[in-house]
Amino acid sequence: MAIGVHRKTIAYIDKKAISTNVQQEIKRLDENVVLYAVVKANGYGHGAVEVAAAAKEGGASGFCVAILDEALELRKAGFTEPILIMGLVDATYADLIALNKLSVAVSSLDWLERANKIVKNNGCEEKLLVHIALDTGMGRIGIRIPEELQEVEQWINKSETTYFEGVFTHFATADSPDQEQFIEQAEKFNTLIASLHRKPPFIHVANSATALWHQSCSSNMIRFGIAMYGLNPSGGILKEPYKLVPAMRISSEVNYVKQMKLGDTVGYGATYSAKEGEWVGTVPIGYADGWRRDLQGQDVLVDGKRCEIIGRICMDQCMIRLPYEVEEGTEVILVGESENEKITLQDIANHLGTIHYEIACGLATRVPRIYI
Ligand SMILES: Cc1ncc(COP(=O)(O)O)c(C=O)c1O
Repeated sequence: MAIGVHRKTIAYIDKKAISTNVQQEIKRLDENVVLYAVVKANGYGHGAVEVAAAAKEGGASGFCVAILDEALELRKAGFTEPILIMGLVDATYADLIALNKLSVAVSSLDWLERANKIVKNNGCEEKLLVHIALDTGMGRIGIRIPEELQEVEQWINKSETTYFEGVFTHFATADSPDQEQFIEQAEKFNTLIASLHRKPPFIHVANSATALWHQSCSSNMIRFGIAMYGLNPSGGILKEPYKLVPAMRISSEVNYVKQMKLGDTVGYGATYSAKEGEWVGTVPIGYADGWRRDLQGQDVLVDGKRCEIIGRICMDQCMIRLPYEVEEGTEVILVGESENEKITLQDIANHLGTIHYEIACGLATRVPRIYI
C-alpha cells in the first residue's frame, strides 16, 4: 500500500494529547488499579506503535489489542509490557501466543483443550496466560453461567500449560445515561466472580465509558481506549469528568482553484450547479482515503471559514465552495481548529450518522500520520 507522503493530505497525531489523557485518567484511579491502553485497529487509526509509546509515557502499564497480529506488531516494536488480546484467536496459534508472553481471552473449555495440545506438542516452555471472558449481556464472547466458569477454572488450575491471569467482561451500555442494562450486567458479573474458587490477579470490566462514568466498577485494571484518543465515548451525551484532549487533526490543501459560471456543474452525476462567479477549490482527499462519499455537504475550514464540500466526493479528490479566490496550496482543515472555528471527529460522525470510532479507524493507510 503506497502512503501519500508526496501529498499534503495528512493526519497529525498529537502524542502529548494521548499521554495527557492517560495521565489524567490514572490520577483518578485507586492505587491498585492499572491502566492498559487499547491500541487495537492500528491505535484506532492513530498508529498503534506510536500510540503505545505515548500511552506508556503517560503511565500505561500494558496494552490491549483485538488480534494476534496486533500484539506481535507491538512485540516486534520492542514493547515488553503485558499485552492482552481481547478477541478470540485460533487455538492453533497457542504456542505463538505463549512464546511471545501474550495474554489471550478465552471463552470455552474446548478452546483451552485444543490450545493445550498445541503448547504441549510443540514443547513450548512458556505458560499460556489466559483471561476468561464473561458474557454478562454484550452477547459477543464469553462464558455465561457459573457452572461452566467453574469447570474452566478447575481445568486451568490443574493444567501444566495454562495460567489463569485474568477474568473480564465488557459492558454494552456504559456510555448511556440509562443505567438499567449496566446494573444488570454488573450484577451478573459479580455472581459469576463469586462462583470462582480463587480470584486471578486481574479482574477487569472497564472500557473508557465505564472508567469515566462508573468509577466504582473499575476492578483492578481498566482497558482505556477511545478516551485516550481524546474522544468522548458517549458522543457528548454524558459530560467528560475532565477535559479530554483530541489527538487527531486532519488537514489537506486546496490544490486547484477556479471561478465558475452560472450552471457549471461539479462532480460525478453533475449533482451541483454553481452560481455565477462562485470560487471552487479542489482538495486531494476522497473516499479511498476514508473521506466517505456521504460527507458531501460537510464543511471544511479554509482561512478560519467554513466551506461546504459540494458535489459527490470522488475516490481521491473532492471539491469545496470557497468564500473567495484563495491561493493554491492554502491549507484545508478537515478535522481541527482554524481561528474561531472547529470541526471535530464527532461532527464528522454526526454528519454520517455514525460514531467517531468509525471515522478514526476508517482513515485509510494512504493518509500519512505525522506525529507531533
Ligand atoms: C473488550 C473491550 N474492552 C475495551 C475496549 C475499549 O473501549 P473504548 O474504546 O470504548 O474505551 C474495547 C473496544 O471496543 C473492547 O472491545
